[in-house]
Amino acid sequence: MSEVRKEILIAKTDIDKRVRELADMISRDYEGKDLILIGILKGAFVFMADLMRYLRIPCQVDFVRLASYGTGTMSTGNITISKDIETSIQGRDVLVVEDILDTGLTLSSLVERLKKKDPRSLKVCVFLDKKDRRKVPFEAEYVGFDIPDRFVVGYGLDFNEMYRFLPDVCVIGEN
Ligand code: PRP
Repeated sequence: MSEVRKEILIAKTDIDKRVRELADMISRDYEGKDLILIGILKGAFVFMADLMRYLRIPCQVDFVRLASYGTGTMSTGNITISKDIETSIQGRDVLVVEDILDTGLTLSSLVERLKKKDPRSLKVCVFLDKKDRRKVPFEAEYVGFDIPDRFVVGYGLDFNEMYRFLPDVCVIGEN
């Protein structure tokens, strides 16, 4: 089996700085509101945990589990929900938190679904944005980093369920 090569794309110090900046923006924008963060499992859990701890306002959290990639590296567009939110979001200020925005299929599908639950507001915060890969138009209100079309792992992102633990965002390739 060939060895997997990892190259740092975004170092943990830069991640930490940017997550603090996003948290500052969100803290200002949601001051006095009824904020609930909805994380998309599994990838978003690392980003969401850091983001939440840098917020200077109260918030609640919930999670949804969707699947679009299976165990491969390509999006199929087949969105299924295996775990829905457990909190009512009616009349509340929802911020969906996601690790990566790629084709846009996952988030556009989830946002449409959540809108039907009648939140007061609904915005999206993504850690990484691969704008070149969109199949459907979708823009997030808060973006950590725009990245090129490379397969990335670390900081919650996986390849076949590996590498989520890496503190940096890395590009992987086979030697
Ligand atoms: C990844 C990622 C997003 C989605 C983005 O999830 O976390 O949810 O794909 O792709 P899209 O914009 O092309 O729809 P994945 O299916 O790998 O699950 P995971 O979060 O459990 O790793």
